[in-house]
Amino acid sequence: MRTGHKIAPNDLCWCGTGKKYKKCHQGRDLLAQLNGGQVPSRTPVGFKALEPGRVSPMRQVQTQIVKPDYFSTGKPQGSRDQGLIKNADQIQRMRRACRAAREVLEITKRAVAPGVTTDQLDAIAHQAYQDLGGYPSCLNYHGFPKSICTSVNEVICHGIPDSRPLEDGDIVNLDITIWLDGMHGDLSETVAVGTIDQASAALMQVTHQAMLEGIKVLRPGVRICEIGRAIEAYVLPKGYGITRAFVGHGIGELFHMDPQVPHYFDPSATFICRPGHTFTVEPMINQGTWDHQSWGDGWTAVTADRKRSAQYEHTVLITDSGVEILTLPDGAAQPFTY
Ligand code: MF3
Ligand code: CO
Ligand code: CO
Repeated sequence: MRTGHKIAPNDLCWCGTGKKYKKCHQGRDLLAQLNGGQVPSRTPVGFKALEPGRVSPMRQVQTQIVKPDYFSTGKPQGSRDQGLIKNADQIQRMRRACRAAREVLEITKRAVAPGVTTDQLDAIAHQAYQDLGGYPSCLNYHGFPKSICTSVNEVICHGIPDSRPLEDGDIVNLDITIWLDGMHGDLSETVAVGTIDQASAALMQVTHQAMLEGIKVLRPGVRICEIGRAIEAYVLPKGYGITRAFVGHGIGELFHMDPQVPHYFDPSATFICRPGHTFTVEPMINQGTWDHQSWGDGWTAVTADRKRSAQYEHTVLITDSGVEILTLPDGAAQPFTY
């Protein structure tokens, strides 16, 4: 814990979010003082809770890169229920964006190692997006300050890259989204840092398979709630929790559009899949509870019990006969054929 120096409530918080101290870590620091320096949390015994690091200044984007409407305002325009069925030209552009997103992920993944900070990973991805002619979709999207999300250990999603060096045994999700040719392509993977424990490896394997179980049921005419039904059937008997507060989403000209894609069974998700729909499947699976809490930075979601969480994400296209994954590695065969 950081104590010993005085910060006034209206000063900037020590953690680097740029928020006022009173809106960020002051409450937590006060509690820690009352408890003799211990932050009272539901951190499991033997686990070291993640601490936020410093967030570096926002990175610049080269002038020749075409910027989305929210680049300066932070607010995306357009309605999330329009233009859900993509035509041939839009599908071509989705393919390109999704292939580029995959390339950025592969480049960034190679840099993951103990001692590397998540901010360094952000810098690598930030450059890679632009080398491919694209804009880092996350950057200033609703004010998000970085170009990728890096979610370490108990972080479920939307972790902000910062000065914390990755440690041997960590797991980190890299969530990459590019805006290229007017389309967003979105994918993520959880990566091992050095040597990880068996339980973390099992969590990652189950989460990856959960994503595939959700994608496998897709074809025209299927209701979107079938994804969550399939994921639940696979995951719950193993004793894991399925995150409910964050869902997959339609994607295209907008980063987030209809439909919402729950990864648990929600019978009210009645949206019916049609050829030309593009959306993500991105389950977040937890070693313990499904429930989450939020850090004071307005983004980072952690498991309520601080046990680990993993996530994998693909962008998919509903075809005339089934589903096509748009974010597979170059040359990889589609897992499901029709
Ligand atoms: N890529 C994330 C998703 O899968 C969204 C990140 S939004 C951000 O939906 F603003 F945090 F970048
Ligand atoms: Co994503
Ligand atoms: Co997504």
